[in-house]
Amino acid sequence: MASPRVLLRSTPTSLKPILQLRQLSSSSSSPSPSSTPPPNPKKPLTPQQQLLLSRALRVNQAGELAATLIYTAQTPPLLRREPHLKPLMKHMYDQEASHLQTFNSLIAKHRVRPTALYPLWSVLATGLGWSTAMMGREAAMACTEAVETEIGDHYNGQIRQLLEMVQGWEDEDYDVGEEFKELISTLKRIRDEELEHLDHAVEHDAKKAQPHWLLTGVIRAGCRGAIWVSERV
Ligand SMILES: [Fe+2]
Ligand SMILES: [Fe+2]
Repeated sequence: MASPRVLLRSTPTSLKPILQLRQLSSSSSSPSPSSTPPPNPKKPLTPQQQLLLSRALRVNQAGELAATLIYTAQTPPLLRREPHLKPLMKHMYDQEASHLQTFNSLIAKHRVRPTALYPLWSVLATGLGWSTAMMGREAAMACTEAVETEIGDHYNGQIRQLLEMVQGWEDEDYDVGEEFKELISTLKRIRDEELEHLDHAVEHDAKKAQPHWLLTGVIRAGCRGAIWVSERV
């Protein structure tokens, strides 16, 4: 596995568009009507900030792909026994599909390399979804509870890091730019929807899964590992 530093050197162009995001934004700060003062300049991203952003988009896309696959695999076995869950499963799947679409667009726009482990995550996510649904509604919901707990924490961490970046720019009187504000509000919206899935899972007996502690413990550890790897590989 290439270290992040090696990766940065070996694929210098992959991060350029994120830098361009700032340059593009600053180029829009040209002459304005005489009555309004020109906006403050935008500070270019440091290499660490570029790395943080490219990792964030890569791991988020991988995670949302996994989420759509988990629900796709869970739905048929679950609905065979519990057809009344169809609207809930569709609602959660549709939101995941929309999250995936968001990050597909963002990684394409900023030319961030997707995770190289796409095939592995696809197999694992499908297996996780299918096996928990075969165990019953409680286990399927415990899977959602575990995954969304980790994903909610993960998005919160990203939002915190981006807010710190923005605060730094504001402290130095740099313009933050609309694209960054929009990215943060997109992450907040998606985080809220993940936490809504977590609530749905608990309302549908996730805590009654047997053994709940083992199932959620294993899945949560797996998610943390997958997040760590997907940021880097
Ligand atoms: Fe999602
Ligand atoms: Fe979700």
